[in-house]
Amino acid sequence: MSTETALQTLTITQPDDWHLHLRDGATMAAVLPFSARSFARAIVMPNLRSPVTTVQQALAYRARILEAIPAQMAFEPLMTLYLTSASSPEEIDRARESGLIHGVKLYPARATTHSDAGVQSIADCAAVLDRMQRLDVPLLVHGEVARPDVDVFDRERFFLDEVLIPLRRDFPALRVVLEHVTTSDAVQYVREAPGRIAATITAHHLLYNRNAMFLGTDGSAGMRPHFYCLPVLKRESHRRALLGAATSGSPRFFLGTDSAPHPRGEKESACACAGCFTAPLALPMYAQAFDQAGALDRLEAFASFYGADFYGLPRNAGVVTLVRQAPAPLPKITAQGWEFVPLASGACDWSLAD
Ligand code: NCD
Ligand code: ZN
Repeated sequence: MSTETALQTLTITQPDDWHLHLRDGATMAAVLPFSARSFARAIVMPNLRSPVTTVQQALAYRARILEAIPAQMAFEPLMTLYLTSASSPEEIDRARESGLIHGVKLYPARATTHSDAGVQSIADCAAVLDRMQRLDVPLLVHGEVARPDVDVFDRERFFLDEVLIPLRRDFPALRVVLEHVTTSDAVQYVREAPGRIAATITAHHLLYNRNAMFLGTDGSAGMRPHFYCLPVLKRESHRRALLGAATSGSPRFFLGTDSAPHPRGEKESACACAGCFTAPLALPMYAQAFDQAGALDRLEAFASFYGADFYGLPRNAGVVTLVRQAPAPLPKITAQGWEFVPLASGACDWSLAD
């Protein structure tokens, strides 16, 4: 990392996004260039409307992504499979053989967007998890229980005790990424747990607590669906724990934006869907959070080293430069008449250098 003139600019090894929703078709074509601008690679989530459950589907999706990358840009999609109770150990063999599948994603049924096909009971997946453990294919986890009797804000904490701890006891050598952690409970678990476990942290969970969902733009009351994602934003003490983890220098915590675009009409609705679209300003948002914590010197390892190390991939060779200045207004991002509203546009002190 090199810094100049009292941290007015910050040049770091090019980062990767270890948790990204690219969608498909015209939406993907509209949002992908924003990720490619900041990130060399991304772990691409498999929760398309029809989930990506087989290697064949993942490779076809990968080909569509490669096709959508603008000519002058470079970007490497790292593909994942969606775990269901019908997944087979042989599919894990094929995944390992392909060399292009970097993880299998566990969505508890109904926990989040497009998770209807998710897992009802982890016991149904024992043979697959066993094969993943043996072939060292990472399990990527959406860590929430979705039982109606569990408070939405407690879903992550319950998941640790009810699902993750028993699962890791049964498969102690399985490499696990607890995705988008949001609570001090998850931070403490990941920090202290034995074995090979890491967690991604989003920029929005580092910058905002749950109050952000209920603030009008002028500081009065309001409800802001663009701040609604799952796991939902938590109270300030949790945000501070996440910031502490991200800036701690522990290699178990690394960058994953969870950028999740939804059409404006589906966000600004009587039943808003979950997901924050952060790709256009994600890296500046992380810089903002690390800057506020006085830890800009820790950003590079969090954004560019620890994820690659955990996934067993080489670190990137290129660099990106961030500048301490408000980002230029973003263009309107549209596809097929839908608009995608990025989070935090206009509220950031950092931007990407040209
Ligand atoms: C994601 C999406 O929209 O696909 N939504 C979200 O709130 N994060 C799904 C997910 O990662 O949970
Ligand atoms: Zn996600």
